[in-house]
Amino acid sequence: MRVINFGLLDNNMEDQRNIWNRLYKNEGGKWRKETLNLPPIFRDKKILELGVGNGKTLKAILRQKPKEIIAIDISKEAIKLSKDRFKRKNTFLMKKNVKKTGLKRNYFDIIVCYYILNNLLEKDRQKAVVEMARVLKRGGIILFEDFSEEDLREKRGGKIVEKGTFLKENGIICHFFSKMELVELFSKFSNMKIDIKVSKPIKNKPDLIRKIISAEIKK
Ligand SMILES: C[S@@+](CC[C@H](N)C(=O)[O-])C[C@H]1O[C@@H](n2cnc3c(N)ncnc32)[C@H](O)[C@@H]1O
Repeated sequence: MRVINFGLLDNNMEDQRNIWNRLYKNEGGKWRKETLNLPPIFRDKKILELGVGNGKTLKAILRQKPKEIIAIDISKEAIKLSKDRFKRKNTFLMKKNVKKTGLKRNYFDIIVCYYILNNLLEKDRQKAVVEMARVLKRGGIILFEDFSEEDLREKRGGKIVEKGTFLKENGIICHFFSKMELVELFSKFSNMKIDIKVSKPIKNKPDLIRKIISAEIKK
């Protein structure tokens, strides 16, 4: 497989933001499903959600009545969509980059990191994790969920830009995680439980499976 030189896409964050803005402007309002698998741990807690998108996970978090939630995204269109959907006194939508949020140190009880790190290159994933460690309280928890290696979407591929990372046809970066790499990425944290869920093969084809990796990580 051909690996493209990411130097060609030096301003890739700018590109990524524009692409997400376009996607949300064109289709974002249609994606209304709600995240179903959150553990019941949010009540009265201070939450940070990374990459809020159109709010399908935010909606599920709010059902559990957190004390306060800050939800961030680099896309102004995503922030606009979620702001329109969720008007609550304790809910703050902000346009920020996960690499450097400028939010208060040791502030949050829980960080929700669902399907966002896959959209970053390796060095940016590492920066995002350093930032999570900075803003999370001692004893606080990160809930992580994303695509695992061998998920069927990996087979659809695209251009390879780094190991396990593709540039999809729509221009979005998409990474597929291995268990070992997750252990390494969060190695500075005190404790970590990883789970991998594999669906039944689709159309009875053994290689067509959905494979999702999730983790509960404690500071
Ligand atoms: C797949 S969507 C999010 C899904 C959402 N977390 C959920 O569970 O419904 C990924 C989101 O991450 C945002 N994003 C990508 N790179 C980001 C970055 N560096 N900082 C903040 N948000 C980013 C995109 O704009 C997009 O809204």
